[in-house]
Amino acid sequence: MEEILLEVNNLRTVFDTEYGTVKAVDDISFTLRKGEVLGLVGESGCGKSVTNLSLLRLIPEPPGRISGGRILFKGKDLLVGDEEEVRLVRGGSIAMIFQDPMTSLNPLLKISLQIAEALQLHRGMGRKEALAKAAELLKAIGIPDAEARANDYPHQFSGGMRQRVMIAMAISCNPDILIADEPTTALDVTIQAQILELIKSLSGENTMSVIMITHDLGVVAGICDTICVMYAGKIVEKASVDDLFAQPLHPYTKGLLDSIPRIDAGSRKRLYSIPGSPPNLASLPPGCPFRPRCDKAMEICGREMPPETSLGDAPRSVRCWLYASGEGGLE
Ligand SMILES: Nc1ncnc2c1ncn2[C@@H]1O[C@H](COP(=O)(O)OP(=O)(O)OP(=O)(O)O)[C@@H](O)[C@H]1O
Ligand SMILES: [Mg+2]
Repeated sequence: MEEILLEVNNLRTVFDTEYGTVKAVDDISFTLRKGEVLGLVGESGCGKSVTNLSLLRLIPEPPGRISGGRILFKGKDLLVGDEEEVRLVRGGSIAMIFQDPMTSLNPLLKISLQIAEALQLHRGMGRKEALAKAAELLKAIGIPDAEARANDYPHQFSGGMRQRVMIAMAISCNPDILIADEPTTALDVTIQAQILELIKSLSGENTMSVIMITHDLGVVAGICDTICVMYAGKIVEKASVDDLFAQPLHPYTKGLLDSIPRIDAGSRKRLYSIPGSPPNLASLPPGCPFRPRCDKAMEICGREMPPETSLGDAPRSVRCWLYASGEGGLE
């Protein structure tokens, strides 16, 4: 197996708000290996973006704060280094594509200049070399007539093209890790597929690792190696993509899988949706946060948070009393 590049241990991030302390990321642990594509999946508001902003220490303080845990990148804790060290990692070794590409591009700067700036900053290229490389990258991500279009401004590009520019900027510095936060939700289905293919092929070529954030399990199934399912600030199930689809364990994961439209299901089958809605992270009830929506809930689920139970080979694990040993679940 490839070496571990990133190790997140017991990460906690909270926001102090007038409604109380929001536990947006609550005791999250996972590892990312070289070349691995990891999907972080869950409903809106479950803490996906906050997890990844925490990795780069981009949480707005206040109201936010990382209140615990360790983030080891190549063995070094990113939470203890000073701001300057983290700045070098950010955009260099770990690059991020943000949820909304329009807010991340400068509307007043030509596309080619924006890519070139990133190259000058992170790879120390001269201006001329950087501009040439920018045009080359636009071609590589499939922008038609790339040399001429390099002189366009962001608003002259379509949503899908802007998203590809963001990817080009992110990968221009040969990052070890690419974090892609919902890179395709605003795009139509064919463009989505192209963007995912692009990320997949790049990860293959450069042995780049990818963290792919999405609320749609169907979208990432084809490109991920591993999936972490998040619910209410916690990872409730971790598995290789094959295991997850073949044998989902957590009732929430099962619900997510049943909500994916399937071509082979026939038109008469109604699409399932998980009843209820996600809990308020500022006032979580005791026990498992999924309990009010769970049809398998037992008495203990309302009292205590289930521990993370490992099953089989890593990364297979689940946080559910059905599988915790000694409580009537699996031994
Ligand atoms: N600046 C902030 N102040 C207060 N609460 C915040 C702030 N940013 C995020 N949160 C809260 O943290 C929780 C997790 O938010 P996050 O953005 O990580 O969700 P997400 O899983 O990325 O959702 P989506 O799929 O909608 O992007 C939410 O309850 C959100 O309200
Ligand atoms: Mg988000």
